Amino acid sequence: MISEKMVKALSDQANAEFYSAYLYLAMSAYADSAEFRGIANWLYVQTREEQAHGAHIVKHLLGRGAVPAFAEIKAPQASWGNMTELFDRVVAHEKHVTGLINKIADLALEEKDHATYNFILWYVNEQVEEEADAEEIAAKVKLTENHPEQIYHLDNALGARKFKDPFPD
Ligand code: FEO
Repeated sequence: MISEKMVKALSDQANAEFYSAYLYLAMSAYADSAEFRGIANWLYVQTREEQAHGAHIVKHLLGRGAVPAFAEIKAPQASWGNMTELFDRVVAHEKHVTGLINKIADLALEEKDHATYNFILWYVNEQVEEEADAEEIAAKVKLTENHPEQIYHLDNALGARKFKDPFPD
C-alpha cells in the first residue's frame, strides 16, 4: 500500500525529471546554436535519459495501483553566458535533484515503504554518477577558459555519447 503523500512525492519527482529533460533540451539547443554540436549531443542524450526517468517513475506508480498526478512543467532558462556557466548550472541542477531523491528515500524509510525505498535506491545510485559526470565535464570546460582551442577537442569527445535506454523492455 502506497500512501497519498508518497504518490504526491513520486509524482512531483516525475515532474522534476521531465523539467530536467526540458532544461537539458534548452541547453542542447543553446549549445547547438553556438555551433558546439558535441556538447549539444551530450545534453540531448541527457534529455532522453531524464525523459526515461520520468516515465519510469510514472510506470512505478501505476504498478503500485496509484494514479500519478500530472502537473505543469515550468519553462527552463534558455541562454547562458558561456559553456562554463552552462555546465556549472548542470552540476547545481544535479545536486538539487539528488536532494529531491534523498527526501523521497527519507520518506520511504519514515513510512516503512520498502517497495518505494527499493525503487528509489536506483536513483540514489544514479545521482552519484550524474553528479560525478557533470562535475568532470564542468571542470574540463573551466580548464578551456585558459586554452580556448581545447574546447573543440572536448566538443568532439562529447559528441561520441550515445543514448542507452536505462530501462530496456
Ligand atoms: Fe534524472 Fe539527471 O537525474
